[in-house]
Amino acid sequence: MIHVYTTGASRGIGAGMVKAMLDRPDIRCDGFSRKGNAHADGSGYRDHQVDLADLDVLERFDFPAPHSEAKLLVLVNNAGTLEPLNRVGKLLPRVVDHAVRINLSAPMILSNAFVRQFGRHPATKLIVHVSSGAAQSAYAGWSVYCATKAGLDMLARVQEVEFDAAAEQAEAQAKAQEGKPGQPPVPGRCYVRAIAPGVVETGMQEMLRGAEPEAFPRKAKFVALHRDGQLSDADAVGRAYVEQFRAFAEMGPKAIPELISRLPQLPA
Ligand SMILES: NC(=O)c1ccc[n+]([C@@H]2O[C@H](COP(=O)([O-])OP(=O)(O)OC[C@H]3O[C@@H](n4cnc5c(N)ncnc54)[C@H](OP(=O)(O)O)[C@@H]3O)[C@@H](O)[C@H]2O)c1
Repeated sequence: MIHVYTTGASRGIGAGMVKAMLDRPDIRCDGFSRKGNAHADGSGYRDHQVDLADLDVLERFDFPAPHSEAKLLVLVNNAGTLEPLNRVGKLLPRVVDHAVRINLSAPMILSNAFVRQFGRHPATKLIVHVSSGAAQSAYAGWSVYCATKAGLDMLARVQEVEFDAAAEQAEAQAKAQEGKPGQPPVPGRCYVRAIAPGVVETGMQEMLRGAEPEAFPRKAKFVALHRDGQLSDADAVGRAYVEQFRAFAEMGPKAIPELISRLPQLPA
């Protein structure tokens, strides 16, 4: 059994993931967003309405208990925002702060809560940060988006270093305890991956196509990608993420060998 906690479950890629997990005997899911997922009432899914830009919410955040037979617990930091879509000098401080909270603070704080809460759980743990090509490339009008996504990739790198060190320590302790009766079971280890979804037809893409060219000079490229049918389908991308979690449950880290990777384009 896999238990998935995903943010941004109400629409776009997150809703695609939820759709792919509904009524599956081998998967349970808790989804988080402000508006909630109105289409997901199938068995195995629980919907939670929370504002991840609200620091009080983040401070009190508690993951609901996973299924008792869960062998893999997955946290998907998927919620994100493209705003503010504008050039430096024209950014509003509150909008900048709001975006940094959703795109970067929330993934950091939720990862922290996930490890604090489930670190000693016997299941294997996997944190997936939904990154972007914007983490690696600089585009005018996207200073906040690019910087927060680059931060997410670096967060994954640091978490990997920490999880590797913790696993080495746990292995050494387990060896030292070998043969001694009454020792607690060794908890399942934590892994992390940052996976960019490619260019996907969601509300974010609509926003790019509606942007002022002055604020976002690459607008024409995204209009052309849409016109030429080059965007991935959000449901197909959601399914691809879920398939990655299933492969990870079966094969472990070999299933997603790269720490930072990108899904192929997946037209409907
Ligand atoms: N679409 C693309 O081409 C593309 C490309 C690269 C990377 N990505 C990344 O993929 C992820 C999903 O994007 P998407 O395209 O599916 O975007 P989307 O359709 O705009 O959906 C964004 C999701 O984030 C949630 N969210 C936003 N603010 C929130 C808040 N304050 N609290 C809780 N939830 C919040 C939204 O739910 P509510 O509004 O209900 O709160 C929604 O479910 C993002 O991290 C994005 O950066 C997308």
